Amino acid sequence: MQTVTTIEALRAQVSAWRRQNLRIALVPTMGNLHAGHLKLVSTARQQADKVVVSIFVNPTQFGPNEDFERYPRTEAADQQQLATCHTDLLFLPTVETLYPRPSQTRISLPGLAALHCGQSRPGHFDGVALVVCKLLNMVQPDSLLMGEKDFQQLALIRQMVADLNIPVEVHGVATVREADGLAMSSRNGYLTTEQRQLAPRLYQALQTARDQIQNGQSSDQSIIAEQIATLTAAGFAVDYFSLSRSQDLLPATDTDTELVLLAAARLGNTRLIDNISFGR
Ligand code: PAJ
Repeated sequence: MQTVTTIEALRAQVSAWRRQNLRIALVPTMGNLHAGHLKLVSTARQQADKVVVSIFVNPTQFGPNEDFERYPRTEAADQQQLATCHTDLLFLPTVETLYPRPSQTRISLPGLAALHCGQSRPGHFDGVALVVCKLLNMVQPDSLLMGEKDFQQLALIRQMVADLNIPVEVHGVATVREADGLAMSSRNGYLTTEQRQLAPRLYQALQTARDQIQNGQSSDQSIIAEQIATLTAAGFAVDYFSLSRSQDLLPATDTDTELVLLAAARLGNTRLIDNISFGR
């Protein structure tokens, strides 16, 4: 595996591959890699001849009181993991490389970004859209691999790619979970032992709500209210727990058939998100 830190070196390598008509896949990450990230890499491997992974803790997607400073940076361990799972090129830029001056360009998707995570993280999705757009322009990959764990982020990037006619195929990859159901996340490392034991209840609540909604055993809203109450009683501070249509993440109505339950909840200072897609 080759590691590059400059945009010039990145472009030189991907241009050489493109001249050989090789298919290139990009997996953007913020590092502190776990099996979820590695699933994106192995899926990329199946679709492309060359796999580029980026590790960049992107300051523009963190709010002023968020965890940018303490976000886990584990580059040496990450590099080892990537090398063993057949990454061809690791792009490891500094903040100065990606943002040599404050960026004046904004990529805002006001509809999607106002919903769900956007309500408690203003500006977050503008930062995500900007950095993913920059990375797409640098690498110009044939395919982009992103996790369904961040369902709203995936929807936002699909919309941006369509709106801006970016020539890339976007592939969503199913969420990788711990044995007890907790969605893998770099932020799980913040949890205390006690919080870690409680954390799988978020996915359990999503599964229970999904089963009850599919059975139609009472109104969607009362099913959701019950799960919010259960999570709150267990010690979660629930940001949102909502039934949306998969297509645009707007509130689901009785006639919608492709649905997603999206949830975010805090245990102490740690914010967990998860979701579950289903039909009815
Ligand atoms: P990060 O949280 O590092 O996640 C990188 C990619 O891994 C995202 O596409 C995310 O959805 C996916 N991922 C994370 N946990 C996963 C899991 N348990 N199963 C499957 N996929 C998982 O998301 C970001 O970074 C950033 O916002 C980024 C897109 C890199 C832009 O800065």
